Amino acid sequence: MSHNPNIRLSFATKLVTTSIIIIISSTFTTSQTCKPTCGTLPVRYPFGTGLGCGDPRFQTRVTCNNQHLTFITHTGCYPITAIDYPNQIIYITDPSMSTCGCTQPSKGFGLDWDAPFTFHDNTVFALLNCDTSSSPIFKSDGRNAPVCDPVSGTRVCGILNSCQAVSRLTTPVSSCCVYAPVDLGPSFEMDLGKLNCGSYSGLYGFDGHADNPESWKYGVALKYKFNFNNEYPTMCADCERSGGVCGYGGPYSSFLCNCRSGINTTTNCLFEATWNSSSRFVHGGFWIYALTWLVIWMML
Ligand SMILES: *[C@@H]1O[C@H](CO)[C@@H](O)[C@H](O)[C@H]1NC(C)=O
Ligand SMILES: *[C@@H]1O[C@H](CO)[C@@H](O)[C@H](O)[C@H]1NC(C)=O
Repeated sequence: MSHNPNIRLSFATKLVTTSIIIIISSTFTTSQTCKPTCGTLPVRYPFGTGLGCGDPRFQTRVTCNNQHLTFITHTGCYPITAIDYPNQIIYITDPSMSTCGCTQPSKGFGLDWDAPFTFHDNTVFALLNCDTSSSPIFKSDGRNAPVCDPVSGTRVCGILNSCQAVSRLTTPVSSCCVYAPVDLGPSFEMDLGKLNCGSYSGLYGFDGHADNPESWKYGVALKYKFNFNNEYPTMCADCERSGGVCGYGGPYSSFLCNCRSGINTTTNCLFEATWNSSSRFVHGGFWIYALTWLVIWMML
């Protein structure tokens, strides 16, 4: 029978192919595209660590570069220091802003008007070193300029002025202007050049600590919304519960669940749990296949 060796050969080929598939699938165990962390920060919906991860509307605004989660607007790139997922708040710092310990010139800060972020009510902006004679915010008829808060402003400005670094500016307290709650107008932009102010401080964490500037946090607190109804997508919640990371793909940027094994599903990663519990068997299975293959090879 001349076709007998051919059958054996194709059987061996099948075994080799199976072995290769097993090797590849065990390599895939570490090839998850969307990561659940960036540096030390947990990354969950709607944020993502790269293209195709999280929600497409947030993808260009929050990125993970060299394990640093970064918030991006047209005014610059800002390190994200913390994310409060239950309350939907991200906290960012601006390396150009002034603090109690250090004052420096800044061009200002702005949000993109079309991005799904707004200022949190706890955020206070103190504009420092403003030219009271020319700045539009100090003109009584300053129509399009933001208006300083006289009450909390005096307190915040007074305390900021008692900081050594700020007092070194040797500008009067009256050249400081506070917005609280922050309303930068329809453009969400604080252009210090236009306002004739030299620098600014962003502060949050006043609740109950108004008189203790040491406990204030310098930075900006921003709220975000998932969507119009602000509902956490149930498909994504299901995916995250099963150990996956939410992402999107395809021509319509439709939902994907990126599982730890690197496989994308349209539901969740529960299949991995079963697969994982039998992973020892799979690895053992590989050696069984290899051994069988060797036996077949010797028989040929
Ligand atoms: C899974 O989805 C991510 C995000 O869209 C994509 O980058 C990756 O290539 C997909 N992986 C597979 C195996 O299709
Ligand atoms: C399998 O389980 C281990 C520990 O229980 C876990 O670290 C690993 O990420 C799991 N792998 C997959 C693919 O779920």
